[in-house]
Amino acid sequence: MPAHPLRLRSIHALAVLRRVAIAAGFSTAASRGCPLHAALARRGAPVGTALELYSRIRAAASPTPYTFSLLLASLAASSSRSPSDAGDSDRLSAAGLAHAQVLKCGALGHTVVTNCLLKLYCALGLLPDARRVFDSGGDALDTVSWNTILSGYGKSGDLLAAREVFGRMPERSLISWSAMIDSCVRADVVVLVSVLKACAHLGAVERGRWIHRFLETERLKGRPGNVMLETALVDMYCKCGCLEKAWQVFDGVQSGDVVLWNAMIGGLAMNGHGERALELFRRMLDKNFAPNESTFIAVLCGCTHTGHVEEGKKIFESMKGHGVEPRREHYGCLADLLGRAGLVEEAEAVLLDMPMEPHASQWGALMSSCRMHNNINVGERVGKRLIELEPEDGGRYVVLFNLYAVNGLWEDARAVRQMMEERGAKKETGLSFIEWNGLVHKFISGDTRHPQTSLIYGLLQDMEQRLQLIGYVKDTSQVIMDMDDEEDKGITLSYHSERLALAFGILNIPHGMPIRIVKNLRVCRDCHMHAKLVSKLYQREIIVRDRHRFHLFRDGVCSCNDYW
Ligand SMILES: *[C@@H]1O[C@H](CO)[C@@H](O)[C@H](O)[C@H]1NC(C)=O
Ligand SMILES: [Zn+2]
Repeated sequence: MPAHPLRLRSIHALAVLRRVAIAAGFSTAASRGCPLHAALARRGAPVGTALELYSRIRAAASPTPYTFSLLLASLAASSSRSPSDAGDSDRLSAAGLAHAQVLKCGALGHTVVTNCLLKLYCALGLLPDARRVFDSGGDALDTVSWNTILSGYGKSGDLLAAREVFGRMPERSLISWSAMIDSCVRADVVVLVSVLKACAHLGAVERGRWIHRFLETERLKGRPGNVMLETALVDMYCKCGCLEKAWQVFDGVQSGDVVLWNAMIGGLAMNGHGERALELFRRMLDKNFAPNESTFIAVLCGCTHTGHVEEGKKIFESMKGHGVEPRREHYGCLADLLGRAGLVEEAEAVLLDMPMEPHASQWGALMSSCRMHNNINVGERVGKRLIELEPEDGGRYVVLFNLYAVNGLWEDARAVRQMMEERGAKKETGLSFIEWNGLVHKFISGDTRHPQTSLIYGLLQDMEQRLQLIGYVKDTSQVIMDMDDEEDKGITLSYHSERLALAFGILNIPHGMPIRIVKNLRVCRDCHMHAKLVSKLYQREIIVRDRHRFHLFRDGVCSCNDYW
């Protein structure tokens, strides 16, 4: 029932409404050819005129949902035209009366009518009233209703309520995203930057893209670019593997700063474009931007992924000349550069001689190099040191176990395994995320909780058979030592989390759109091979961001050149 007192100035309209209210009943008779309806549809009329038109319709025949939608829309239009003039109380009462009429005729069950009423209350800034209509809407609600209440909250500046509604939405469209982003922007640029960071972290590029589009339209409306936002966009696109988009944003920035350059150089390096990262670094120096400590991390990382040992060393030595004192991370990058290129002794020397204590992850990187180049001498030392440093981390035992096993040193391997069991060290659970339709789907290895589980497992089994035909052999050398993976496979039929995410992607994401997966651990060899073949067999572009880097699988090859 309406909560607003009757304070209509137009006595006539009041009388008419009273007459109207007496009659109940609701007809759905066709009203489209009617001149009164046509007049009501014109929406230029003041509140009193709209009500009068309504009452004349009511006198002639039973109003239909169409009548109500016209009346409500007309009232909403008049309130958006002059939201705060002296006619406000008229509009509030008219809204209340119209609401009462709608209820009386039982028209609220009609989605269109409910939505018009929601729009009217939102236009009047009566969010609590809108919310009551919304909360009792039941089956009459649709995406438009959700979007209406969402943007109502957004426009009134109630970001918390907007977020709450957004979080509960069963289905989100472009309009919902824009409404949400719109309310964020009204709140703060800083909020938007953090939304972009969240997108980058989750690999949720579709969400990030909405923000980009939104900012572009703002730009057309004359809002100046903001380098913080542009940097966040570059970073987001790079972390989602969309380098061309990142480059496009980077290229369009009017006045960049070192943080922007770092984001682009780092993004190139991380995506396996070491050459381009180095090139951009040189251009940065040419343009007299002073590189900072993060720049050097990015460039050294670029050298590592392309095996530019000599150039990397030179850049490391040039740091002091640029006024940047090498820190722990820089020594780590240098060691990684050397180790991956096979110079593991030299790399070990860097870590042992550096002025500060290396971090366990830096020894861990060297350990990967030892495994990659099968260097048992250095590997044994480093492996033992890692176990000493992190006795709780099961992954540390696994690598040493493997190094021994690969070299046939079974006694040593068994000892490591026993030590791991005695200490009860655990391996981290593998998690993969994939975004689809505005939702992030999370999988753990062997997961059976997803609603599409049976489809996913069905596809994976079918996939395995088809892949065998094009040369996929399960890496059995690693199956005998089931400790090889960072991730525990458990029973034979339990698949690694990234495979579940990949199958989900193939099932749901239309052909032609890339499948993007984010994983918390390193991709294992078997899954890497598997993803390469799947990209060829299904002609899909697959992008996996794991703990260390990006893999872009396309037509049977990976951008990392099997070097990760
Ligand atoms: C260097 O750049 C990074 C971003 O790339 C920034 O976070 C950091 O504050 C900068 N350092 C200095 C000393 O300006
Ligand atoms: Zn795997």
